[in-house]
Amino acid sequence: MALYSEKVMDHFRNPRNVGVIEDADGVGEVGNPVCGDIMKIYLKIENDIITDVKFETFGCGSAIASSTMATELIKGQPLSEALKLTNKAVTEALDGLPAHKLHCSVLAEEAIKSAVKDYYDRNKIPYDPADFPDCSHCEACSAH
Ligand code: FES
Repeated sequence: MALYSEKVMDHFRNPRNVGVIEDADGVGEVGNPVCGDIMKIYLKIENDIITDVKFETFGCGSAIASSTMATELIKGQPLSEALKLTNKAVTEALDGLPAHKLHCSVLAEEAIKSAVKDYYDRNKIPYDPADFPDCSHCEACSAH
C-alpha cells in the first residue's frame, strides 16, 4: 500500500488556498518545536462566517496537505464549525496519514483555532477559553 493516499498527494501537489490575506480579520501561527515546521492561517470573517482563508506552511508534505484540506473544510463555514474541526477530521478527509505523520494535521487544527482566537481578541468578543486549550494537551510532539 502506498504510504500516502491519493488525496494527500493531490493536495500536496495542487495546494488550495495558498497565500496571504493582507487585510485578514484573524491570523494564527503555530509551530511544532520538534520538527520545526510552521503553519500560518489567515481568515476573512463576515457575520461570523469565514468568507476567505489562506495559508502559508513551511513544513513537510503532510503539513501542506493538512493545511490545504483544512482550509477547504472551513471555507464558507461559521466560526463555530471551524472551532469544531479536529485533526482527526482533517486526517479522515485526506483518507488517512501515516501514524508518524498524524502530528502534522494537529498543526492545521491549532493554526485555525489560533486565528479564530486572534479575531475574537482583536474585536474583544468574549469566548470560552476551553475552546482554545494550549497544545500541551496533545501528544503529537512526544509521538514524533
Ligand atoms: Fe513537522 Fe510534518 S514533520 S509537521
